[in-house]
Amino acid sequence: KSYIGYDKQGFLWCEELKVMDILESVGTTPFFLYSKAQLVSNFESYLDATKGMDAIIGYAIKANNNLSLLRILSSQGSGAVLVSGGELMLAEKAGFDLHKTVLNGNGKTMSEISLAVTKGCLINVDSEFDLEHIIQASKQVGKKARILIRINPDIDPQVHPYISTGLANSKFGIRNTHLKWFLDRIKQEQDNLVLVGVHCHLGSTIRQVKIFKDAATIMLDFVSVIRKAGFHDLHYLNIGGGLGIDYERQGDAIPTPGELVASIREKVKEAQLTLIIEPGRSIIGNTGMLVSRVIGVKSNGNKEFIVIDGSMAEVIRPSLYDAFHWIGMITPNSEELSKFDVVGPICESADFLGKDRKLPRPEEGNGMAIMDTGAYCYAMASNYNMRPKPAEILVDGKQWKYIRRRETFEDMMHLCDQ
Ligand code: LLP
Repeated sequence: KSYIGYDKQGFLWCEELKVMDILESVGTTPFFLYSKAQLVSNFESYLDATKGMDAIIGYAIKANNNLSLLRILSSQGSGAVLVSGGELMLAEKAGFDLHKTVLNGNGKTMSEISLAVTKGCLINVDSEFDLEHIIQASKQVGKKARILIRINPDIDPQVHPYISTGLANSKFGIRNTHLKWFLDRIKQEQDNLVLVGVHCHLGSTIRQVKIFKDAATIMLDFVSVIRKAGFHDLHYLNIGGGLGIDYERQGDAIPTPGELVASIREKVKEAQLTLIIEPGRSIIGNTGMLVSRVIGVKSNGNKEFIVIDGSMAEVIRPSLYDAFHWIGMITPNSEELSKFDVVGPICESADFLGKDRKLPRPEEGNGMAIMDTGAYCYAMASNYNMRPKPAEILVDGKQWKYIRRRETFEDMMHLCDQ
């Protein structure tokens, strides 16, 4: 279900509010705008998908770490996937049940691991040295660490190489040929460790259910091997995150969470496992947009450019992964369309939001929306070119409120020696 869309006249709405009206009250652009109903509905699709089975839905906090959005998810019963001590402290502050959180990462520091052991998080083992660090931490803390082994199933998720993570040559996870070494080492340290599961994460923006299904089959084989080796506390299969969303907004057939889970449900139940799933993008991506204003229109060579006040500092995905975000005007416009590159004011040519987009010729000051920027946009935003990070605003029905104010010049300076 979609809570963000156009009416017949061509006004863009977020729930029961016209985006233009919000822009006029807010004044300063760009800002991120999120729909609460969309967020809750996306989370509910995962709840429905996992109904009737033991499951933890662990929202990947890295995708969007706004405290208010996190509180909405934690109040719905979401777990969380963490990649740093900072995210762990944030998860606690946002009210997540820390027993339903997983600390993940190929370079966890001792202090991050100790905090995770203290708080009772699940911890993914990523390498030989990582396991040794976890053992040391559990000894220091005086508490058993609950661990999962992150195994590389060596499956190609068919996505951009920067966001592909489960191949044999990836920097994540253990060499699966080395599994026995890990099992032996864990056995020696049974006073400090309890092996409760296996984990894999294949990559991000995955568009085929089969990829998850194949991974689950491989992982279930590892589960039997590990159980046969005498590990009877193994009850979690963590299948990672990575489900894509319809960035093109063409109604493309991206699998639903229901389809994803249905493809593995029976096998997981048969093996008497609790499923952990770690969605980020498919929970938060389509809840947000960047609202921006047109600064001007220019042409160079055979190109026409719409220059807006949003940029790669707020939405880096097009520059970094050649990612596509749908871009549209927020108010009605002429039917006549031309081809434009939509670019920001930053001093480099990588600063584009969209290329060769068919759009009406806008007027200066018109509002434009970069859609589906709820995931990996604010979270990856920077102060490049001394740009303050934008405000974040949440719509709930007919109401809107700031959930993070826009940075000021003073905010950007306050850590400097002045
Ligand atoms: N679990 C693990 C272990 C992960 O590494 C990730 C994402 C997720 C879950 C969540 O994946 P999702 O469901 O959001 O695809 N910045 C990139 C995406 C990087 C994803 C990193 N790992 C982008 O903007 O596309």
